[in-house]
Amino acid sequence: MKKILLLPFLAFAMLSCTAPKTQEPMNNEVINAIMARRSIRQYHATPVARDTMMQIMTCGINAANGQNKQSWEVRIIDNPTTLQKVQDLMVVGNPALSAEMVRGCMRGAPVMTFIARDLGYDFSAYDCGLLAGNMMLGAQSLGVGSICLGSPVRFINDAENSAEILAMLGFSANYDLSLCIGFGYANESPAAKPRDINKVQFID
Ligand SMILES: Cc1cc2nc3c(=O)[nH]c(=O)nc-3n(C[C@H](O)[C@H](O)[C@H](O)COP(=O)(O)O)c2cc1C
Repeated sequence: MKKILLLPFLAFAMLSCTAPKTQEPMNNEVINAIMARRSIRQYHATPVARDTMMQIMTCGINAANGQNKQSWEVRIIDNPTTLQKVQDLMVVGNPALSAEMVRGCMRGAPVMTFIARDLGYDFSAYDCGLLAGNMMLGAQSLGVGSICLGSPVRFINDAENSAEILAMLGFSANYDLSLCIGFGYANESPAAKPRDINKVQFID
């Protein structure tokens, strides 16, 4: 008798394991943060507290990374005077470019992070990208806006005085400045730019 009663439960359990699952709703906290994050190019002057930045960085360093080599180094500038000094040096070092363009490349973010990759590890660029992604999503979840920036990297590495600017950042030898991420409180709410899902295909 017990066996007969168990049969419908067993059948249900087997079906729920094998039947194709319907799509999960896109509304958990992680997905919401991913879908809500946008590049912010207008910020309030309000600084981001160092405790908050450390939470963001803790998210960053917990990213997947090759062989857990953590093949990155990060420098954070949240002092407006120091950030101004870096920008001034960048302007001096790029005489062919307008001062507005060079200063504007940081998009007015009050906190700038500079990420360098270990040139001795062939996957370090990916490590740094994943670190950066985690930093931006961590920030999003804390209500902090962010922007990933390539231009400052070019304007620093190509500057006539790049050695002086890089000395200020103080990366270890064999680490190459690769990415900047700006942080601050958003003063705009940009819409999502279109994405092309056709770039993703299942192969049967
Ligand atoms: C590697 C990389 C470099 C980028 N460099 C810049 C940059 O120099 N200036 C800028 O305004 N945005 C920059 N962005 C931001 C992109 O323009 C932005 O992520 C893209 O347009 C998609 O918009 P979304 O971030 O709002 O979804 C960069 C993004 C990445 C990933």
